[in-house]
Amino acid sequence: MKSIKNICCIGAGYVGGPTMSVIAFKCPEIKVTVVDINEKRIAAWNDEDVSKLPVYEPGLDEVVKQARGKNLFFSTEVDKAIDEADMIFISVNTPTKTYGIGKGMAADLKYIELCARQIASVAKTDKIIVEKSTLPVRTAEALKTILNNTGNGVKFEILSNPEFLAEGTAIDDLLNADRILIGGDSTPSGEIAKQALVDVYAHWLPKERILTTNVWSSELSKLTANAFLAQRVSSINALSELCEVTGADVNEVSRAIGTDSRIGPKFLKASVGFGGSCFQKDILNLVYIAKTYGLNEVADYWEQVIIMNDHQKLRFAQNIVKSLFNTVSGKKITMLGWAFKKDTNDTRESAAIYVADYLLNEMAELTVYDPKVSEEQVLADLDYLNSRSENENRKLIKVVNDPYEACKDAHAIAVLTEWDEFKTYDWSKIHDNMLKPAFLFDGRAILDMDKLEEIGFQVYTIGIGAE
Ligand code: NAD
Ligand code: UGA
Repeated sequence: MKSIKNICCIGAGYVGGPTMSVIAFKCPEIKVTVVDINEKRIAAWNDEDVSKLPVYEPGLDEVVKQARGKNLFFSTEVDKAIDEADMIFISVNTPTKTYGIGKGMAADLKYIELCARQIASVAKTDKIIVEKSTLPVRTAEALKTILNNTGNGVKFEILSNPEFLAEGTAIDDLLNADRILIGGDSTPSGEIAKQALVDVYAHWLPKERILTTNVWSSELSKLTANAFLAQRVSSINALSELCEVTGADVNEVSRAIGTDSRIGPKFLKASVGFGGSCFQKDILNLVYIAKTYGLNEVADYWEQVIIMNDHQKLRFAQNIVKSLFNTVSGKKITMLGWAFKKDTNDTRESAAIYVADYLLNEMAELTVYDPKVSEEQVLADLDYLNSRSENENRKLIKVVNDPYEACKDAHAIAVLTEWDEFKTYDWSKIHDNMLKPAFLFDGRAILDMDKLEEIGFQVYTIGIGAE
């Protein structure tokens, strides 16, 4: 097959947008069109003012500015882009199913199937289809069956090319990926398709970092990578509770074990719990697949990672209520941070949502400040949980743009996201303007506990017990 000249990506979200922007930026001779059914999202991707892009990622605005309008396009014309492309990435959402068989566990593949059917009905020339979305192992089989039954003589090769970028560092992760994984058939046409995709990434990454495997290994490796990463967070969070009761310091424990080169230092930061759109969804999916094959011990093993994470969020919220003399009703509590991690505006599955929900059920009055998350988003996240009516949520929660105003007259502050700016605040000034005793709950262990105690705060830091 000739080299790729025209790429289409279906899905202009947190993965499709940044990934395609980097491909376009690094491959100026390839035309890249990112399509989505969400008109508002596409309009935002096309906004002249790059600070209004729908995804906030450090460095993304520059990459988009360089390529957009030259060889990078965002459009709602899905059929046209499919028709013109020789390679189509599917990068649509694959959320946990909320209905029917596998409800609450399996991945909902309806958006993937819709894409496959649309490609099948529009395509007039041979195409390489690339699974970019995270999918259950053996999804490519279903895609192949749908695509190969069109009867119009068009040939499709299906590749799995999962994405490993993390939000907040997406551009750097894409430009300097540890590895690219490409799964495909070992038939002659499968090998040609794999090579075509290898050639795209080889524009900027050394060939040794581009791994090729069979399709099933590639699909399963993506779920496995996320499960291992989340497992490390749950493991250190489990130890954080033990540290608190024994007087150990979880940061010291992390450092002590992380210097063992077999363990390594990354993903050992204790926190109020992991969030994000993928860890929970992908582990649940893995658990579901294991159960489907009757592997109950395997399923139980991985499910424990989620159980631990839920426990971590809950105990953080419970500790706030307990510390505030067992009642937070009518008390102002300030939440610093709402995003699931720093440097992103994404709030999906953020621990902050669950902590807020618990405190609101205890009738606390919450004020939220996050440098990148809007009031509309905070309210939408709470409304989605359906714990209270929309009216009640609006009565009990306020979102403000100024951190000092957010903390004024509060009984307590809870740090939910590890934004760097929180470390730079004038904490004495904040303390002066709070009700006393002034409580501070650091769910990310980012603030200087000794200094805050000197100022007069009653400080609780995740994973640090009294000596
Ligand atoms: P997202 O929800 O941000 O974006 C998905 C987009 O697909 C939406 O804009 C939606 O409108 C669009 N879409 C859905 N069906 C469509 C259709 N039929 N035609 C056109 N557009 C359609 O999701 P995301 O975070 O970008 O994740 C996409 C996939 O990538 C998921 O499978 C996820 O597990 C995986 N992933 C995500 C990340 C991450 O950091 N967010 C990282 C690696 C992998
Ligand atoms: C994660 C993976 O890191 C990516 O490789 C993967 O592509 C992506 O999921 C995906 O499939 O969606 P992401 O969720 O964007 O990326 O962000 P992470 O940096 O992994 O953080 C996830 C959560 O774990 C965050 O809430 C973060 O605060 C928390 N975390 C992370 C900790 O609490 N402690 C740590 O040491 C590391």
